[in-house]
Order: sequence, then structure tokens, then C-alpha cells
Amino acid sequence: MKTAFITGAAGFLGSHLVDEMLRTGYRVIGYDNLSHGNLSNLENARLHPNFIFHFGDVCDRQALRKAAGSGLDLVLHLAAFKIPRYGKVTDTLRINSDGTLNALQLAVEHSAKFVITSTSDVYGKNPVLPFSEESDSVLGPPTISRWAYAASKLFDEHLVLAMSEEHGIPATVIRIFGSYGPRQHLSWWGGPQAVFIDAVLRNQTIPIHGDGLQTRSFTYVSDTVRGIAAVGKADCLNREIINIGNNVEITILELAQEIHRLCAVPWPLRLQILPYNEISGRRYEDVRRRVPDITKAKRTLGFEARVTLDEGLQKTIEWQRPLVLGQSVGPEAETSTMVEGVRA
Ligand SMILES: NC(=O)c1ccc[n+]([C@@H]2O[C@H](COP(=O)([O-])OP(=O)(O)OC[C@H]3O[C@@H](n4cnc5c(N)ncnc54)[C@H](O)[C@@H]3O)[C@@H](O)[C@H]2O)c1
Repeated sequence: MKTAFITGAAGFLGSHLVDEMLRTGYRVIGYDNLSHGNLSNLENARLHPNFIFHFGDVCDRQALRKAAGSGLDLVLHLAAFKIPRYGKVTDTLRINSDGTLNALQLAVEHSAKFVITSTSDVYGKNPVLPFSEESDSVLGPPTISRWAYAASKLFDEHLVLAMSEEHGIPATVIRIFGSYGPRQHLSWWGGPQAVFIDAVLRNQTIPIHGDGLQTRSFTYVSDTVRGIAAVGKADCLNREIINIGNNVEITILELAQEIHRLCAVPWPLRLQILPYNEISGRRYEDVRRRVPDITKAKRTLGFEARVTLDEGLQKTIEWQRPLVLGQSVGPEAETSTMVEGVRA
């Protein structure tokens, strides 16, 4: 039986990946400091005889090594901080650099395969669509702190490819395009779906950042995780980058309308357009359009997203509805711009 070590195991993608690797016959060691993850995400896995969870920080190299024990075949490195919308820029840079170096060193010590979840955000403001793995990264200046996430993940990508070559371990970089679904973090940390579903079910105004005409390509979590697991198990894609995502493009305004329709609430859709600088009080730049080129994933892995946005949103709403209805519902007293961690 092969052993996979998964960092960020209690998070949104990490916990689904734990379930998927257990389902396909792996022994799994999960590692997480619960900064954004939740043990409830691992309720099923924790009953499984081939799963063990360790609480710890990826920046703590000794704790990481101790948790790993001996005999790893695969390190799936998901622990990270994402776009620092409300500060915590240093945490994003530190965790995504130190944590990745430690996880890579672990893979080197075990001669294990290393897979990292990077992000579509590294394509930045590149106007040439769709984004292929060879496309340029066009990031804004460091004076706009939201780019710290993309910069940290680009650093990670270079580090993974360089250490893989120097130490002779197999490694692959996955660039994930906006995933959503059950267990998503119930704030902007979890993406717009979490916030929009919450607002619609509570008869509150949906906060639209920017003009709402920016586009994204959203991928249901079962597809994203199937893609990550396929990369982990594949013999190909060594020292390569691969996009994992759905290539159907939708504007943020259309997403809000779709969620309102699928929630089937008796009240009308209410939107509030919020200029970026009114959200966080700091300069912000958004990505105008984001669409993956999925040719390489199809060719190398036979991977393609299967779940349509409507199906995925329906499943996500079903999961989120009881969580929202368990709390008070009604028109808000003030605008419902949630900050990260409020309803974790
Ligand atoms: N969800 C997406 O749409 C998306 C898109 C692009 C890339 N990614 C990448 O996928 C990975 C998982 O993202 P997610 O959406 O599941 O996020 P998440 O925040 O739900 O999961 C990350 C997990 O890492 C843990 N973590 C953070 N810092 C840690 C530390 N110092 N030590 C140990 N654990 C730590 C958190 O507690 C959390 O459980 C991340 O690397 C992210 O950059 C996700």
C-alpha cells in the first residue's frame, strides 16, 4: 500500500483529496494547523483505518518530519495562504515559501513524488486567453499586496522545478482554477460562491467587487480533486506544469444571477457594486478574464471537468442551506461584506 502525505488536509480541497486517496487505496497522513481548515471536514476520514491526522505547522520542519514518520511515496502539498485581501501579506509570503521548502525537503528525504497546488492567479493580468501552461505571468506591482499570493506561488513553482532537478525527485506543479463546493470556507477565503449563496439565502444584498463584468472559470470540487489525484498517481508530467480547471467562462454578475435562480427564494436579487478600494481600504487589482487552456490535461491525463456549473452550484447550495438556516435569516442592517474567518 502506498502512503500519501497531504498538507492542508483539513482545508477545502485537502479534505476532499484525503477522501479520494483513501477511496483509491492509499494510506494517508494528513497535516494541518487548522488556521483555515476544520476537523469537521475530516469526519469521515478519521474513522478510516488507513488515515492518521497530525496537527502542525508546515513552517515547523521538525514537526513535519516527525508527523511523516517513514516510508512516504507521495507528498501532496496544499497548505498555503491565499490572496491577502485583508492583510496577512507576510503570512502569505512566509507560509508559501518556508512551508513549501520544508514540504519539498520532506519529499527529498523520502525520495517521494512531490505535487503542489499552485494557482491560476500566476497568469495574472495576461490578456491573451485561454491561459496555457506556457503563457506569461503578468503580475501587478508589489505595492499592490494582493499580488503577494501569485508571487509566492510563482516562487514555489520555481523552487519545486529546481529542487526536483537537483535532487532527482519526480514533481509536478498544478495550477488550479477557482474551485467551489461543499466544505468551502464560508467567507471570501472560500470564493464568491460561499458569499453569494449566504447572502441570497439570508435575503441580503450580494456584494459585487468591481463592476461584476470580470470573468472566471469555476470548477466543481469533485473535478478539481479528481485532477489532483490523477496527477499524484501519474507517471508522466515530471517537472511539468498542468492546468486543472473547467474552461467555461462566466461573469461574476452572471454567477450571482445563477445562484439567486438556483436558491429559488421568494425575494428578488439585490446587488451592491463595491469599488475595490472601498472593500479593503487598500489598492487592489483584479484579473479581468480567467480561462484555462485544458488541452494538456486532456492529452496527458484524459482529464476533463464533468460537473456543469448548474449541477455544482445546486450541490453546493444543498450543502450550505442548512448551515445558513441554522442561523438567523433576514434583511441585513448593513452591507454584508464578510471578512475572512467570520463564519469559519
Ligand atoms: N480553492 C481554490 O479554488 C484554489 C485555487 C487555486 C489554488 N488553490 C490552492 O489549493 C490549496 C488548497 O486551497 P483551499 O481552497 O483548499 O484552501 P484552504 O484554506 O481551505 O486549505 C488550506 C489548508 O492549509 C492549512 N494551512 C494554512 N497554513 C498552514 C500552515 N502554516 N501549516 C499547516 N497548515 C496550514 C489551512 O488550515 C487549511 O486547512 C492551496 O495551496 C491553494 O493555494 C486553491
